[in-house]
Amino acid sequence: MQKRVFLATAALATFALPAGLALAQDNSFKIGLILPMTGQQASTGKQIEAAARLYMAQNGNTVAGKKIELIIKDDAATPDVTKRLAQELVVNDKVNVLGGFGVTPAALAAAPIATQSKTPLVVMAAATSSITQASPYIVRTSFTVPQAAVALADWAPKNGIKKVVTLVSDYGPGIDAERFFKDRLTFNGGQVVDALRVPLRSPDFAPFLQKVRDIKPDALFVFVPSGAGAAVMKQFLERGMDKAGIKLIGTGDVTDDDQLNDMGEGALGVVTAHHYSAAHPSAANKKFVEAFEKANKGMRPNFMAAGGYDGMRVIYEALRATKGKGTGDDLLAAMKGQIFESPRGPMFIDAQTRDVVQNIYLRKVEKKDGQLFNVEFDVIKDVKDPGKAK
Ligand code: PHB
Repeated sequence: MQKRVFLATAALATFALPAGLALAQDNSFKIGLILPMTGQQASTGKQIEAAARLYMAQNGNTVAGKKIELIIKDDAATPDVTKRLAQELVVNDKVNVLGGFGVTPAALAAAPIATQSKTPLVVMAAATSSITQASPYIVRTSFTVPQAAVALADWAPKNGIKKVVTLVSDYGPGIDAERFFKDRLTFNGGQVVDALRVPLRSPDFAPFLQKVRDIKPDALFVFVPSGAGAAVMKQFLERGMDKAGIKLIGTGDVTDDDQLNDMGEGALGVVTAHHYSAAHPSAANKKFVEAFEKANKGMRPNFMAAGGYDGMRVIYEALRATKGKGTGDDLLAAMKGQIFESPRGPMFIDAQTRDVVQNIYLRKVEKKDGQLFNVEFDVIKDVKDPGKAK
């Protein structure tokens, strides 16, 4: 009896709502993206927002009867702000999925909120191996730095690079890059003769590069986050390091497609390992690059855009699979195990780790049609995060 009264009251309450509002509540599916739209990492936010909007323009904003609503919040890559925004998005906006996360500390700050509220959280940018372990609700569509670092450490000694100095941004992904590159290079008979760490905020590379010049290794291995590569390249060339016979190698973050064209001819020949290149020669990627450039005044998509585009795909398909009725847990289950062709090539969300399994390509900066590109010359297929095995 009591139950019936409650139901009747609930029904009444629903009808009492203005029609528009009731409809919005029933039919909307909210995706809250937290991105660095300002500050040092702003290019990441810009790329991911553009990619997410492109995905929606191409795939419509209604899935399984739900109207997709994209909410974008700027955290300026500041973890305290990320945490507050994640809380607000979950509690006030009642988002169905959280996404974005330009840097590792931001993803880690939001992780407990995903866990507490059982909200799937799609990491589209950050790349420290351990992130997916911070919450069982995290799924990643970017990459892990060890995926790229290990591939490069396998390539280097076979190509005359034995003695290396590493130079990394002093935080999560940089520490991963340093450790995984060194372990693998050492295993392969090479040697890391010095390991330098630069601050994440406003780094001055000059004193570090001077040190590298004095040591004169075969190569300098670099990890800096997307957006910082051009500064490293500029100072590397200004100091004549290339002329002194020191090669620049790194994860593909350093020859970021977003900045590569402005780096100049000095960047030619730089070899990196990464999961995405705007020059990836597939029909799916050509279509993606063309549409992205067209929608964004000629801006070239970088690997962050690929992470954002694929992140939206994973969310859309989870919503479709759950027929628009999914709880956070249902959506999460439908994200696990997704396998599809991304602009980067084939990709797979490992159901066990919730991390991305993908090809890693070796690429060399070359000029094509008057522009600089990361041209792929070798591939290691279906690479799992090497960090998960440790
Ligand atoms: C990160 O903070 O995890 C991160 C940011 C930018 C990158 C790679 C990793 O390019």
